[in-house]
Amino acid sequence: MTTATTGRTTPIGVVGTAHTRVEGREKVTGAARYAGEIPFADLAHGWLVLSTVARGRITAVDTEPVLAMPGVRAVLHHGNAPRVETQYMGMMGPPDPTSTVFQTDRVPHLGWPVALVVAETSEQAREAAESLVVHYEVEPHDTGFAGDRPEAHTVDGIMPGVTEKGDLAAELAASAHVVDAEYTTPEEHHSMMEPHAATARWDGGRLELIDSNQGTTWVQNELAQMFSLDPGAVRVRSEHIGGGFGSKGLRAHQVAAVMAATTLQRPVRVVMTRRQMFSLTGYRSPTSQRVRLGADADGRLRALEHRSVSQTSTVHTFVEPSAGVPRIMYDAAAHHTANLVVPLDVPTPTFMRAPGEAPGSFALESALDELAEKTGLDPIELRVRNEPDRGPVSGLPFSTRNLVGCFREGARRFGWADRDPRPGVRRDGRWLLGTGVAGASFHSGAGPSTALATAEPDGTFTVRIAAADIGTGARTALTLIAADALEVPVDRVRVRIGDSDFGPAMLAGGSMGTRSWAWAINAAGRELRERLALGTGIPPEGITVRSDTTAALGTLAQKERHSFGAQFAEVAVDPATGEVRVRRMLGIFAAGRIVNPLTARNQLVGGMIWGISMALHEEAVRDRATGGLYGADLAGYHVATHADVPHVEADWIEDDDPDDPVGIKGVGEVGIVGAAAAIANAVRHATGVRHRHLPIRPDRVLGAQDAGAPDA
Ligand code: MOS
Repeated sequence: MTTATTGRTTPIGVVGTAHTRVEGREKVTGAARYAGEIPFADLAHGWLVLSTVARGRITAVDTEPVLAMPGVRAVLHHGNAPRVETQYMGMMGPPDPTSTVFQTDRVPHLGWPVALVVAETSEQAREAAESLVVHYEVEPHDTGFAGDRPEAHTVDGIMPGVTEKGDLAAELAASAHVVDAEYTTPEEHHSMMEPHAATARWDGGRLELIDSNQGTTWVQNELAQMFSLDPGAVRVRSEHIGGGFGSKGLRAHQVAAVMAATTLQRPVRVVMTRRQMFSLTGYRSPTSQRVRLGADADGRLRALEHRSVSQTSTVHTFVEPSAGVPRIMYDAAAHHTANLVVPLDVPTPTFMRAPGEAPGSFALESALDELAEKTGLDPIELRVRNEPDRGPVSGLPFSTRNLVGCFREGARRFGWADRDPRPGVRRDGRWLLGTGVAGASFHSGAGPSTALATAEPDGTFTVRIAAADIGTGARTALTLIAADALEVPVDRVRVRIGDSDFGPAMLAGGSMGTRSWAWAINAAGRELRERLALGTGIPPEGITVRSDTTAALGTLAQKERHSFGAQFAEVAVDPATGEVRVRRMLGIFAAGRIVNPLTARNQLVGGMIWGISMALHEEAVRDRATGGLYGADLAGYHVATHADVPHVEADWIEDDDPDDPVGIKGVGEVGIVGAAAAIANAVRHATGVRHRHLPIRPDRVLGAQDAGAPDA
């Protein structure tokens, strides 16, 4: 194809066309190596020892017997481990002390890392670690989360703790219809397939870490600050990552591995077990949320209050910002939102796929469904009537807001028009049937990134960027982006990622990875193309240009940038067993430019499946007596499996902002948002019972039925 502007021959653009993963063959044949399985000469193995008490102090560590065990080379603990810097400002704020291991005798929760046993083999290390006796002075602990805890307070962090406008009491009093309800979501865990694993070694005065993380330059910078090293003296590599979902940043195992490699002056690998991950790698806090909505007779909101309480640890504050959802979704004359947090003797929670939006959308989109019933309006029509024309809190215009378009297209494809709104009247044999909808949104941002684009003498191109493919298909998406930026066919481009030596880049988080990296690759690719157009020959080392988007990001007009979506679910409920089966789901999204429909659909469907899991299965239950979890493994902690997942379809509508230089919005998180609410709303439609507490377990369904209750 010949472009009119340049007159040069260019390939047809590949962005927007389906491509299988460039590393797919390596992955399915087992050739792709993950952090815990890359061979090293002289490798030693570290095994973490976790506290068996929920609060107190370590009084003694009986290292002698363990040091005499076969193959054991060292036992690191607070009494002998290298000191590290704990007071610095990292990319996500100050470090969570769970990562800065062995600096204090204090034990702030059960499963806190108290020692690392290093041995010649992993089995020897494990045997010794499980034999290590640690003595504690035990203090009473408190892990009892509840929404009415008096210690709950707001914290201004990435988002303001509180937003308030208008007179809530007056608007509620003037409302024709009011919803006032409490919703809860349980503690949930990331449960990615690949456990956390890292190998640390010193190589000619440089610290090298082979790791499984969501951002190599992020972990590089954290380690550099913690160990008082120049960032250039730290190299972090992360070639393949078997899932992250927010939990693969800097964790105890990387720091422990670096300490051991430093102490022993040999490579040390630390791999976590699935059980250890339940206390060491973060989780989504339980939430207790109160939503109050007041509307006129025609369904227009006058009052909206969303107040969410979550928990954090006593050593580090992380707020699950569930009440952030209405700051984007719906407006009202009185609009109050607040995120509160209660410190308890528990591990520190962290970012988990759609932090805030996932639990927040369950509460808010359930409340909207309750309001639709009260007003007698169709739930989609109620949302259409409450479309804001600006950000309800920011007052900023939306870059694009195609939520209504998503609902319209979804309604058409799902067959919503034929829906009988009456609850509890459809049957298919023993099953009660129902359908539900919910809205979704997720922030679309970008972080500064650099990329290197090289024209090789053989006519191919190499693009290097410290991006992370945590299973999303980012490597493939960036290959398409690079091919279009360079105006060459895909098979002439290789994209190398996952190495901090490629320079600073955004981490894979906040659905911002592909948008951020594409921006940098576009810039480098275009500049390289211009250089080559000058017609100079390519020297043996190639021609390389480097881009940096830091300045360009600052020129972006201030707007509310979000992806949006409409979730539809059909469920069947067995009143005899209380079993809820999702029969089909449809998600229609407006998520900007879709780079690779194959992997984008996979991301959106994956998010929706998380929604099924959140609605029906996932629940980590904390035992108040021990302060630990019951069944902290994938037998005790249920995630949706194949048999739970029916026909799930995701698609998108046109969502083009001509003023956006990249146009990509990100699809990693919006797929889970609203999904659990759509299912809960469908259960209400099927059974007539409103479930405000997740997960909707069979016993809850039966209990509500037995009580004859309209609410559970
Ligand atoms: Mo995520 S929770 O932005 O990895």
